[in-house]
Amino acid sequence: LGAGAFGIAAFTGRDLLTGRNATLASATARSQLRIPPLYSGERKSGERVFDLNLRHGVSRFFEGIETPTIGINQSYLGPTLELNAGDTVRMNVTSDLPETATVHWHGFHLPARADGGPHQPIGPGGSWTARFDVRQRASMFWYHSHAHRRSGPQVYQGLAGMIYVRDNASEALDLPNDYGVDDIPLIVQDRAFASDGSFIYSTRMHNVMMGMMGDTMLVNGVVEPVFEARSDRLRLRLVNGSNARFYRFGFDDGRSFHQIGTDGGFLAAPLPTDNVVLAPGERAQVIVDVSDGRPVSLLADGLEIMGMGNMGRGMRGSGRMRESDGPMGNWMMGERGGRDGMMGERERRDGMMGGMMDERRQFTVLDIRPAEGRTKAIVMPRRLATLPRIDPGDAVRTRRFVLDMGMGMRMMRGGGFTINGKSMDMQRIDETVRVNTTEIWQVENASMMAHPFHIHDVQFRILDRNGRAPDAAEQGLKDTVVVYPGETVRLLLRFEDYTDADLPYMYHCHILEHEDAGMMGQFTVTV
Ligand code: C2O
Ligand code: CU
Ligand code: CU
Repeated sequence: LGAGAFGIAAFTGRDLLTGRNATLASATARSQLRIPPLYSGERKSGERVFDLNLRHGVSRFFEGIETPTIGINQSYLGPTLELNAGDTVRMNVTSDLPETATVHWHGFHLPARADGGPHQPIGPGGSWTARFDVRQRASMFWYHSHAHRRSGPQVYQGLAGMIYVRDNASEALDLPNDYGVDDIPLIVQDRAFASDGSFIYSTRMHNVMMGMMGDTMLVNGVVEPVFEARSDRLRLRLVNGSNARFYRFGFDDGRSFHQIGTDGGFLAAPLPTDNVVLAPGERAQVIVDVSDGRPVSLLADGLEIMGMGNMGRGMRGSGRMRESDGPMGNWMMGERGGRDGMMGERERRDGMMGGMMDERRQFTVLDIRPAEGRTKAIVMPRRLATLPRIDPGDAVRTRRFVLDMGMGMRMMRGGGFTINGKSMDMQRIDETVRVNTTEIWQVENASMMAHPFHIHDVQFRILDRNGRAPDAAEQGLKDTVVVYPGETVRLLLRFEDYTDADLPYMYHCHILEHEDAGMMGQFTVTV
């Protein structure tokens, strides 16, 4: 379904493992983009109080077809929470779900007890309150389930939402700032549907290994939506809320745009580009100019995440992905042996490869149709933010983290997804860091897939990838970083403010099936 195609649309849902085909054909007109309600909480005795209720619901992604889903205060996904730097917030979370869930504030610097990770479970009918100060720079963050071994299925069903943090510096910038009008939140998620309309979520080996992927694009819970632009310049806030799929975003006419922000804040200056790559958990803010009045589509290449060596360089370059670029192709042709012969004949015969080859797709994310009488473009600010200085010399120590996925039998037994050879153990603290210190975390990928490595509590900086400085698009504040196969990425992190000798924060792969399968560890920050 390309740009400008309207009217009859056929959507195919296919179980990636069995190959069972189910076609959901619907004669729906293209749907308008849904903007999640903006929720600013209630001011009560100096706090900003939010009431969030986790619940099951039914959603209509296709006309006349009902999909059981999970949402927060609604049937699928949740409201956009609006916070201001300096606020003290209280999140009152209640759950009507039949299973234990959590709500994690991804990207937030807060006390471990407020983090919403697996140590803050909310049982069926239960509740949980998180209280914390907003000590973030302006950006967008997100909240989602982090239930022990259940993050994948819960997020997939809809347990996620966006968070806007505002601060004085960002409000003073001359940027589109009218929520849902020229400042557009976009939660991007691929989903697979069965013929009865239900989501397909499979934890069979292939889906665990690759992560759960779908062939239908949902944006804010709408299939390939349309957005009518009433101003010449749009600010798009992209969250890759997919369980496993990486995307390269760009426009169908190849137009350039400006990236203005990364995970945790603004870049120092707007970055002209024609594409943005986001792995699960990563975010970007971009400004696109539609003053030419022509309809334009935001597309996403679903990228291969398998392969050897220098994949990262190929992925982040400008221009369209060349079909032959994928290291996967070489690997399939047998031109390059896997590291230690990683994927052997047996798996190939098992037909796993067929499924993997299938993972590269192009999606339409959003059809933008400029309306008549648009508001005129404003001038792009030349400077956006002053970023903290990066000095590796500040680091008191370097820690190594080796990501691996044992293949074959080891993985099938569930012991294959590891960091430093260890699978997640709720009872084990893997690392202890001292508060008010700076460290280098050196993350090495020993597997054949790219992994988005996410660290709680901090916004970090990327020092280098295999010794090379990161691209401009990665020079801002980050909480999630892709580590490509064979790559070593060095991060600079500073730990501040909050300590708890017993209660840990998490670091993990943000492919949720990898996280659930054990590619996660725990650290405490102590005095
Ligand atoms: Cu977005 Cu540990 O999570
Ligand atoms: Cu997080
Ligand atoms: Cu992973």
